[in-house]
Formats: sequence, structure tokens, C-alpha cells
Amino acid sequence: MTLVNLDTKFLDASFQNEMAEITEEAREALKTLDNRTCAGSEWTGWWNYPQCHGLKLAREIMSFSQSVDVFYDLVLVIGIGGSYLGARAVHESLGHSYKGLFDDGKPLLIFLGHHLSEPAMIETLDLLKNRQPIVNVISKSGTTTEPSVAFRVIRKYMEDRFGRDETSRRIVVTTDKEKGALKKVAAEEKYKTFVVPDDIGGRYSVLTPVGLVPLALARWDVEAMMRGADEVFSELKESLNGGEHPVLRYAAARKLAFEDGKRIEILAYNNPKLFYLVEWWKQLFGESEGKDGKGLFPTGLSLTTDLHSLGQYVQDGVRNLIETFLVFEQETAFSDNAVERSLKVPIAKDNLDQLAYLEGRPVGDINQAAMVATKIAHADGGVPCMGMSLRRLDEYHLGGLFAFFETACAVSGLLLGVNPFDQPGVEAYKKNLFGLMGKPGYEEIGASLKDRV
Ligand code: PA5
Repeated sequence: MTLVNLDTKFLDASFQNEMAEITEEAREALKTLDNRTCAGSEWTGWWNYPQCHGLKLAREIMSFSQSVDVFYDLVLVIGIGGSYLGARAVHESLGHSYKGLFDDGKPLLIFLGHHLSEPAMIETLDLLKNRQPIVNVISKSGTTTEPSVAFRVIRKYMEDRFGRDETSRRIVVTTDKEKGALKKVAAEEKYKTFVVPDDIGGRYSVLTPVGLVPLALARWDVEAMMRGADEVFSELKESLNGGEHPVLRYAAARKLAFEDGKRIEILAYNNPKLFYLVEWWKQLFGESEGKDGKGLFPTGLSLTTDLHSLGQYVQDGVRNLIETFLVFEQETAFSDNAVERSLKVPIAKDNLDQLAYLEGRPVGDINQAAMVATKIAHADGGVPCMGMSLRRLDEYHLGGLFAFFETACAVSGLLLGVNPFDQPGVEAYKKNLFGLMGKPGYEEIGASLKDRV
């Protein structure tokens, strides 16, 4: 039994047969990842990172978070893309749905620097005034515009409120070991600094200080997360020499779907708290595969909510979709003392709402049945459907899922013939923005764009 399971029984028999052949290609691709001969191999430090460094690092980061010498009740993460989505995915998946509106015993974890919205920044400043914040600014390059602008605003706010010395104790930086403007500021101001490893790109960095520091500051068990990731990487190491692994089958199914003319992969989920987990997955696959005119466009479908909006399209629209149903078998509402809580459909005196057939049944069971019903309906509607399941929704299993998807994404990209570790397409808008805003060196681009707009 693997930590993440993949159920392919709703795929056509012929699709499944072809998948078996491509699975062997996927294994070959995995070997090139393991022996560092694949495209972009200089960015494969995340592969097996938990075993090499991660467990020790997780313990160090946990003990750092317990030794912070200022009181804080809010952690503000400044970062964009891979520099914030992993931490947000875990915090939103495991935290209380209404965190912040009442005291759930944990510091708030909020995010900035992933947009340029002025009202959203002003409202973040409003919130900070009522809180005792600590800030973790995360940027591997140290020069990305969105987090740089946000950090300049927040740093001024912190220095005005706390003075320079206390601000130094309330800011933690996660960046490159030597390059970038952020590194220089951190050294100058003596901010506590964690390093983003050289050979790990942003979207593969959730299991490094990029994800671990904010999550530890927000009191999540990052050591368990690393253990889960370690388990999946160990399974994958074993599969190098033969045997089934769901990562290989998932990558093979995606490649085959693309060759069959599918262009969109939907990740369907049935717990709204998983929204940011799916955002993380979208970034990982979108930025890794979407190049050279190739790749499945990754999108999410929140069940059952979206069945009353996008469901019609999935059932009957253009047949260029595949769908993966992600499910955690045991989920429990947030509880600060780890007590499992459940909710059953109450028994009513009358049956005016015609729900007597559901009386006494856990709402979660109805939710899982709705997912099965949807999977069968979409498969019958001509969408190749797969099921992906994990036993529990907790730090351990999320760590395993991160390792699973990172490896599946790398192998999928290699099977497609793209470099899954670069993102040349992201530069186009950056250059235009620099030109429009008058950054020195971008005058020519700026002049030509101003003519066009
Ligand atoms: O995956 C990636 O490399 C990107 O999405 C980056 O995470 C994102 O652009 C942020 O970059 P940086 O951490 O350098 O600010």
C-alpha cells in the first residue's frame, strides 16, 4: 500500500493497456531524475531532500519557532508563486475555516506580496494594527517585484511601530544564500535568515525552509510533514528497479491523455479547505509543463459547489478534459485538542424536507458518495476519470502528497519533452511591467508599449 493511491478503474480498457506501456517510459524518466541526467537536472535538489537534509532541518526550524523572543499572534508571509502557495495550502487545509474570527489557539497566518492590489495591502495594514505581527519574507531571487513592493511597505510599517531593533527580531528572511537584494537587506539589518537551496526552484520548494518556516511559526508539525514526504520518496526509490507506483501511472495517464487530444486536467476535491492545495498543484503543473505549445491546463473543481456552475460543462461540453478526484478518507473538523468531531443528519419529527433516508448518516459519508456519483457521471459523459486517495488529512499525508505531485510533475514534463524546472514564459509580463513603470534599462520596451496602449 502506497501513501497516495491511484484508482484507474474508470478509464477505458484500451486506455489502461496503453498506459501500462507508457508507465515503463515514466520509470526511465524517473531514473534520469534520480541520476541527475534529465533536462534541468541542476534544479532537482528537491528529489529525496527530506532524507538528505529535511528531517534534521524540520527539527531545527521547529526549535527556532519555539525560541522566537518576541510575542506574536500573527505571522505575515510575503511571497509569490512557489514562495507562498505551499505554506498556504497546508494552513488552509488543516486550519479552522473561520480562523481569525475567533480564537482557535493558533497564531493567524496571512499572506501578502502575491498581488499588487492597493486596497488589499491597505486592509492588511489595518489588520496588523490590532495584532502583534512577525513577518517572514520569502523570495529565492530576492528581486521579484510583488513581494519587494509589499516588503518595502511592511518594513516601513514595522520600523515606524516597533523601532529598528525590535523590527529586526520580528522579521525572518528566506532567500538565496548569497544573491539578491533581499539577502543584502537581511545582512544589513541582521534579520534571522533561512536559505532556499540553490538547486530547488520555487514551485518545488514547499519542503524546504520556504514552506517549513511559516508553517512552524504558525504551529504546524513540519517534522510530520517531512516524514510523510520521506515515505513517498522512499517508495519511489524502490520503484526505480521495477514494480508499480501510482506516480508512474499518473504521469503515464497524463501523457496519454495529451496525446489523445485532451488539453485540460481538472483536479476535483470535496472539501473547500483544499482550495489552496489545488492552487499549489495548479502552479506546479502549469509552470512546469505549459511550454513549447504543450501541456495540460490544470484547473480545480470544488465539489459539490461547482457542480452547480461548471458541472454542466464537464458533463456535456468539449471533450478535451481529464479529471482526477482527490479524496482524503478521514477528515475531521479542526480541533485544538485533536478531538475527532462528527456531524450526522438529525432525526426530524416530520419528513417535510424528504431527507428521512439520510437520517443518522454522517454528512461526510454523503459528501464521499457525492464524489463517487460525480466520478461515475463524468466518466459516463466521456471524461477519463481517475481517483486519488490518501488515508487522512494531516501534516504527514500532505507532506507525502507534495512529494507525490512534485515527482509526478517532473516525470510528466520529461515525458512531454519539456524542461519541467524552468519558467521562461513568466518573464514576458515582468519586462512589460518594468518598461511601463520606467525601470532603468527598460526604456525602449516602455516606449514601444506606451505607443501600443
Ligand atoms: O516556481 C517558481 O520558480 C516561481 O513561481 C517562483 O516561486 C516565483 O516567481 C517567486 O520567485 P521568488 O521566490 O524568486 O520571488
